[in-house]
Order: sequence, then C-alpha cells, then structure tokens
Amino acid sequence: MHSLLPLFHVLLLAALATRAVSVPAGSSITPPPPIEPVSLLSSHSNPQRPWTRFRDWIIESIWGIPKSHTIRPPSYDHSAPPRGFARYGSDVVLRFKVQDIKDAEALVEATDILFLDVWASTPEFVDIRLAKEVIPSLLGLLPDSLQTAYTPVIDNLPEMIYATYPGRLVGIDGNPLSSTSARESVNLFFRDYQPLSVILPWMQLMASMFSSHARLINVGVSYEGREIPALRLGTSSDSETSAAPRPVILVVGGSHAREWISTSTVTYIAYNLMTKYGRSEAVTRLLRDYDWVLVPTVNPDGYAYTWETDRLWRKNRQPTSFRFCPGLDLDRSWSFEWDGNQTQTNPCSENYAGEEPFEGFEARELSQWALNETQNNNAQIIGFMDFHSYSQQILYPFSYSCSSVPPTLESLEELGLGLAKVIRLTTHEIYDVTSACEGIVTPADESSKRFFPIGGSSGGSALDWFYHHLRARYAYQIKLRDRGSYGFLLPSEYIVPTGKEAFNAVLKLGQFLMGDDAVREIDWDAELQVLQPDDSPIPVPNAQTSTDTTDEGGVEEEGEDDDEEIDDESEGYDTWERIRWEEQHPLGFRRRR
Ligand SMILES: *[C@@H]1O[C@H](CO)[C@@H](O)[C@H](O)[C@H]1NC(C)=O
Ligand SMILES: *[C@@H]1O[C@H](CO)[C@@H](O)[C@H](O)[C@H]1NC(C)=O
Ligand SMILES: [Zn+2]
Repeated sequence: MHSLLPLFHVLLLAALATRAVSVPAGSSITPPPPIEPVSLLSSHSNPQRPWTRFRDWIIESIWGIPKSHTIRPPSYDHSAPPRGFARYGSDVVLRFKVQDIKDAEALVEATDILFLDVWASTPEFVDIRLAKEVIPSLLGLLPDSLQTAYTPVIDNLPEMIYATYPGRLVGIDGNPLSSTSARESVNLFFRDYQPLSVILPWMQLMASMFSSHARLINVGVSYEGREIPALRLGTSSDSETSAAPRPVILVVGGSHAREWISTSTVTYIAYNLMTKYGRSEAVTRLLRDYDWVLVPTVNPDGYAYTWETDRLWRKNRQPTSFRFCPGLDLDRSWSFEWDGNQTQTNPCSENYAGEEPFEGFEARELSQWALNETQNNNAQIIGFMDFHSYSQQILYPFSYSCSSVPPTLESLEELGLGLAKVIRLTTHEIYDVTSACEGIVTPADESSKRFFPIGGSSGGSALDWFYHHLRARYAYQIKLRDRGSYGFLLPSEYIVPTGKEAFNAVLKLGQFLMGDDAVREIDWDAELQVLQPDDSPIPVPNAQTSTDTTDEGGVEEEGEDDDEEIDDESEGYDTWERIRWEEQHPLGFRRRR
C-alpha cells in the first residue's frame, strides 16, 4: 500500500500537469473506473489491483497511450508572469521595531500617507514593503526613535518573487518517471505551489478516488465567475435523519491571494485526511464523528491574478468606485463589527472593506453557504481554521477589539496553546498564541475608544464572524510560516514542513474535540508527522528558528507522563530554546494577554 501511493501520485501529477496546459480550468473529467479505496485499504483485500487499474486508466485516458510505455515527465507552463520583475524592481521589505504607542501611531500615519503595503504587524514589529527610493520619504515622516529602528528583511524582492513560481521541472524531458524516487514522488504535488488549473482537477480526482468519504462541493462562485471549490470529507449517513446537528469543521485558506502557503496547506491537510482514512485510527474516527469542509482558495480570482499578473496581489478582484484600484479585502468584509468606514474613502488601500458589510463578494458567498448549512442542513460549525501567512501566530477572537473578551477565552487559549505545542514538538517551529486584536495598537487615551490599527482595521474578520455569529466554539486564524525571512514569498521547499505542522494542529484540534475517551483509545502521538531529511532541502538564509531535519526529539516519547495535558504550558519551552528565541526577538517572548 505505502509503496503504491507514490507511483500513483507521479502519474496523477503528470496527468494534471498535462491537463493544465491543454484543458481549461474547471472542465470535467471522465470518471475513473469504480474502485473502492476503503476496502482496498483494509488488510484482507489485495491492494495491488485497484491501484493498477487506476494507474492504467490515467495513462490511457489522459495521454492516450497504452501502459508500460516510457512516460515523459510533466512539464509545467506556470512560470512567472513576464512583468513581475518590472513591477517590483527596486522594492524592499523593511522591519521596524515598535517600542511604544507613539512609534506605532507614526508608522500608521506615514504608511497611510504614502500608500505603503504593510506586510505584517505584530506587537513587536511592523514589516513594510516599499520602493528603495521611497525610504527617505518614509523616514522623513517618522520620529527620531524610528530613524534607526529598522532592518531590511528582504532586499531582493523580484528575485524572490520569481523563485516562488514552479520552474524546476521544465526542460527535463526524456527522463522516465520511474527514475523519480519514491519519496520525491509522494511529494510531487506538494513540491511546488500549484495554480488553480492544477488544484481543481486534483480535487476532482481526489474526490473520485476516495468517493466513500470525500465529495467535491462548491461553497460559492467568485466575482469573475469561478467556482469556490471545497472537499467535504466525512462518513456520516444522511444527517437529516438524526436529531442532533452534524458537527462540521471548516478549514479555509487563500482569503488573501498572495498567501500561497495557506492554499497549499489546506490541500495538504485534505490530502492527508483522505489518504489516511481507513489506515489511521485517529483520522478514521475524525471523519466518522465530524464533517470536514476544506476550502483551499476562498479568493480564486485573486489567486489566479497572483499567478498571471501580480504575485503580491492580496484582495479580491471586484471593481470599486475608483477604477484604478479594484479589489476588496475579504477578511474585512464580514458583517460582525464591520468597520469599513475607516477605509471607505480609499479603495486603493490593501485593507479596503468596501462600502458596506458583505460587499466583498466571496465573503458573502461563503457566509451564505455557512448559514444555509446551519439553518437548513442540520449542521453546526464547531471548528473554524482560517489559514493565512505570515508570522507564525495562532490567533483567537476577537480581532476587532482587545477590549471585548470572548466568553470562552480559557478554552480558546488552552487549545491554542495545545496547537502551538504540538507544532513545536514535531517541527520545532514556534507559533505565538494570542488574541487576534494584538496586531492593533490601542492608544494611551483609553477614553477615546479609537484603535490605531497598523495596516488597517481588523473589524469584519471571518474569525470574529464565525465565532460570534455562527457560534463556532473553536475559531482560529493561523498565520503560517515564516517569521519574515521570506514573508509571503516563502519558497516551495516549505510547503511540506508547513503542511505537516498544520496537519498536526488539525489532529490536535480533533483530539481536543473528541474528549477523554478518544484520548485514551487512540495513540495520537503516533499519528503526528515529523520532518524527514528531504522535506526541506535548502538551507534557510537568516533562519530564525530551527530547520532541524532529523526526527530527534520530534514526537513525545512514549511512556512520558500520560497525564500531560495540553494546558501544561509551563513545561512547554526548553530553556535553551527560550534563550535563543529571546536573543533573536528581544522585544518579547510569546506575548499574550
Ligand atoms: C458608517 O458610515 C455610515 C454612513 O456613511 C453610517 O451610517 C454608519 O453609522 C457608519 N458606521 C460606523 C460604525 O461608524
Ligand atoms: C442549501 O443547501 C441545500 C442542500 O445542500 C441546497 O440544495 C440548496 O441549494 C442550498 N441553498 C442555497 C440558497 O444555497
Ligand atoms: Zn491574510
């Protein structure tokens, strides 16, 4: 079984790559011959035959050649758009260390005046992208305290943009696929970021492969008419017959188009849930007890635009009142505590929320799907994971204001810390756990009740809407890797390591939801994914956290104290790790409220 999956994957990816060049996205695919992945996964059946049939079907129906011929490797047609270099020719990303409220306010004001693109804002630092020529203008607007409080985190932006598009497979034809090593081929789909024209057929194929527990659905249509596809996983029989609502866990990515790692991560999670069903007790139980809806690209128009035109596009693509500045920020469009009045006059802002709640087209589509599920389809969304990048943070509600405390703060923090811990134990990455409001800076004058968001307001977020409006008890926005070495331009080598830690976090969420019985009956630690030597082949410049590629110290040892609970945070950080972290981040360690 294990040895067959890689081969299958080579063929699948090759098929998709071929299709991507010749077939428009969204076209349907001839269904494969019926196979039963579940019975195939059980030990008493012969695993060989269905996979072989499936492989032959791919070869014959997609390439039109009989099996056993030498197959040419996939060749991609997804290189960087030609204007990418010119657009960001002299741009850099600067990181400003923020010491106090005055610094923060000055930065907010200056970035507004100059229309700068704020890449990240945390309580400790603010990353800003700007052309080199604009640096003097920016500094001219800043107080003395900030004149030297910055360092460049990226100074070769065009090169890094170029590097995120796939390209390494081009031109290696004549090389039979059989020479690809097994490990490599398992990761072929996840070795590069994939355009919609590959993701959608991949989702279709996955759904038909694993039809016993996976379905391809639509959660809406984009402004430009693209489907917003999702994989719905689960083995519940018709939920209408049972009285209790069916618990659903919604996992989404790609609200902000340029955050490619969030899209790849959702596909990675979906892939692992689908393929481990029937083989892993934990995953089998999770798909039995919950429905999982995974949406890799909430913003398909924006995602397509990042592939075809502008790698750093963030918003969706609907028109605004100002024709030169299209696009709404889909994570400011939701109706709960919408505060788009702050950006109303400036459609060019990266955080433009439109003129009224849910003007953001895809946000409204997803909300209507979710409302329909809960009101008409006997579903209850209990978990919501909204993947973004970057800065490695696990954020819980509320995002719109720090002065409003969520009623379930303790559980949100407890589980949030558990997610961060499982990541630290398996891939050694540090994720901060904090309230989503932390990125906003509150002025010293509390009475004014005004917030000074760096890089825009934080009302109208999907996080707050699902938590407050749909009562999704466990709602998180997770900002994935990295901490700023590459920012949104995280190289594809990090797709698998990042996917692994996010999948582990999903397992942790499942373990938490299932409660005590499941914790006793299932060996959850055995299900966790650890780094393998070839997961992250290139060394990281300016690496701030470990890229340890050994399994050592990965998963907790068996026989360790069984009573250990995820809220046991004091035990969490090894002394050496803490010291190293503080050296590199002198302004704060895991700041929380
Ligand atoms: C936003 O602006 C509209 C009209 O421009 C106004 O009616 C509304 O009260 C404002 N909302 C907030 C939260 O200020
Ligand atoms: C609500 O869900 C049902 C069942 O999935 C579907 O048939 C119906 O079209 C949906 N309604 C809307 C308005 O999306
Ligand atoms: Zn985002």
